[in-house]
Amino acid sequence: MKQSMTRITVTALTLATTLTFSNFLRAGEVEVLHWWTSGGEAKSVAELKKILEANGHKWKDFAVAGGGGENAMTVLKSRVVSGKPPTAAQVKGPSIQEWGREGVLTNLDDVAKGANWDGLLPAVVSNVMKYQGHYVAVPVNVHRVNWMWVNPEVFKKAGAKIPTTWEEFAVAADKIHKAGFIAVAHGGQPWQDATVFESVALGVGGADWYNRAFVNLDASALNSPTMEKSFATLRTVQMAIDKDAANRDWNLATAMVINGKAAMQFMGDWAKGEFTAAGKSPGKDYICMPAPGTKGAFTFNIDSFIMFEQKGADAKGAQRALASAIMEPQFQEVFNLNKGSIPARTGMSMAKFDQCAKDSSAEFESSAKSKKLVPSWAHGMAMPASVQGAMFDVVTQFMNSSMTPKAAAEKMAAAAKSK
Ligand code: BGC
Repeated sequence: MKQSMTRITVTALTLATTLTFSNFLRAGEVEVLHWWTSGGEAKSVAELKKILEANGHKWKDFAVAGGGGENAMTVLKSRVVSGKPPTAAQVKGPSIQEWGREGVLTNLDDVAKGANWDGLLPAVVSNVMKYQGHYVAVPVNVHRVNWMWVNPEVFKKAGAKIPTTWEEFAVAADKIHKAGFIAVAHGGQPWQDATVFESVALGVGGADWYNRAFVNLDASALNSPTMEKSFATLRTVQMAIDKDAANRDWNLATAMVINGKAAMQFMGDWAKGEFTAAGKSPGKDYICMPAPGTKGAFTFNIDSFIMFEQKGADAKGAQRALASAIMEPQFQEVFNLNKGSIPARTGMSMAKFDQCAKDSSAEFESSAKSKKLVPSWAHGMAMPASVQGAMFDVVTQFMNSSMTPKAAAEKMAAAAKSK
């Protein structure tokens, strides 16, 4: 009798424990919208899928191709409007606030408090992840946008010096062209045009002016001689691009640098993910350098996932598992090794990372101190999406016409009003 009582108690206890435990760890499905479809990007997102699946959850991939994410955002809007939001979506910067205002995001404070996100994230990151003081998004990385990716062999063959100023760039581009190579690998798409222009403008105008123009949207900085000089410099870059660039995907442009067809590309460090996926080593096969004139400055682009309110305990449980997995050191390391970025979480060892990532990590900290850490407006970190779209139009029109730098500067100031 005594024995069976004990057995019953033990069974009941086990049952109770199992119930609470399984409630917390309920297996469910996560549907994750992202635009990571290039070689390096796909490898990175596969790591998240692996971790989720190892924890018993199902991964439903919702990839929408298109660099910079414009297509993905259009698809996301229609899904949410039709009442079927995914579990999570790759959304970043001020757009997180826009989605917060729609009232469709879930509050992640319980996960965040449990794992001390406030203590683990730099304020510049955690502030962006919160809506009205509550966590609604989780950061996966910090990308640096103001990079120049260089094929040293091409420079050597052309007898050109790798440029550190835009004046040196013009000289080098000319030599490279004369030697029969393409100086700048680029894809003529609005977000890529803006990515290049952003680095040019930072190099020409410096961080203070950049902030006044692209963060404060100050008309006197937007319509200014500095903006005109930035557009004039963009013309020099444009002359160095080949005639087949229209609509070329960014990763195909990176491949041109990898294969020695082109000398350089101005692109964020997701480009490094392509070099890594191709088995190339920095310092040997390729060189990463800050874009001319931007040494010591850092345009940041933080990828994050917003989480939508879910119905049902399984879906909610799986969503929480996703949120907490993203912040785990194991994920932040392996994802960023593939992606080309650095972890968003502080205090991580950089031992396994290459020199470009180590430089990025050091400059992320030092640029914050020297006030040269600026948000990437080309990648949705600085201004409302409507203004960003209007500025993309100006830059792309400039690249595809004979618009004068003066007219472009005036149009940038007008674009700032499209809020
Ligand atoms: C994203 C990166 C992505 C890149 C190219 C950027 O806006 O932040 O994660 O790799 O676009 O698609």
